[in-house]
Amino acid sequence: MQIVILKDAKEVAAYGADIFAAQLIHNPQSVLGLATGSTPVALYQDLIARNRNAEVSFKNVRTFNLDEYLGLTGSHRQSYRHFMNEQLFNHIDIDKHNTHVPQGDAPDPFVACDDYEQAIASAGGIDLQLLGIGRNGHIGFNEPSSGLTSRTRIKTLTKATIEDNARFFSADEFQPYLSITMGIGTILDARKVVLLATGENKADAIRATVEGPLSAACPASALQLHRNAVIVIDEAAASKLADIEFYKHIEAQNQKLLKRLGK
Ligand code: GLP
Repeated sequence: MQIVILKDAKEVAAYGADIFAAQLIHNPQSVLGLATGSTPVALYQDLIARNRNAEVSFKNVRTFNLDEYLGLTGSHRQSYRHFMNEQLFNHIDIDKHNTHVPQGDAPDPFVACDDYEQAIASAGGIDLQLLGIGRNGHIGFNEPSSGLTSRTRIKTLTKATIEDNARFFSADEFQPYLSITMGIGTILDARKVVLLATGENKADAIRATVEGPLSAACPASALQLHRNAVIVIDEAAASKLADIEFYKHIEAQNQKLLKRLGK
């Protein structure tokens, strides 16, 4: 894994946006894996600005989101489909038909999961997958104990995740406790993965991801198996890493080498 430790959330978003912009310039027909949560919002704003400046185009891009609440329609204010429309898709030159979010109100959610896998495969797989991380180490909605080779399926949310996400729902509103999520195996199939995390409340999860054993207890630790995973974090999220100076040293050496090679 490449560990990139930056000063704050602003730098993390800009670094992530640079990776996405480079991908879009390299391949304007990219297949992107996208994420929800508060962490990617600043990255999306950056990409919206670059799209307006004509630095990048989404005209020929296809997207697949990680997950959706089971039981919510795409028009529900708290659905991840609504979130993506509001935070990104409504503001860029993408064809909405090319944007995919698991169908929370599918008549048969089991079939919807298999269809989602099929759609990703038919698109040729995901070139670049964006991830956030839950405090318990979940990626997408792959909660602890998720199979490390799992595919898109229905997952029950933990109490901690329901509590963390309760802030988005009003007291009298139904808050789903089930989800459809890409599996860990689905995520690992992406050709490149970028995980963003900021803030001290993610420090334990980041330590378990980077320095913990490969374990279903911390689903994000599965990224240790990925050949092209970048973990982009701020100082606060990095604060519990034992080898923080070493990771900074490696990254400085990497940057030096790239500069020398003119990349
Ligand atoms: C939700 C999403 C995850 C996201 C996590 C963290 O549970 N399913 O994909 O990574 O929230 O969100 P935040 O970035 O708001 O901390």
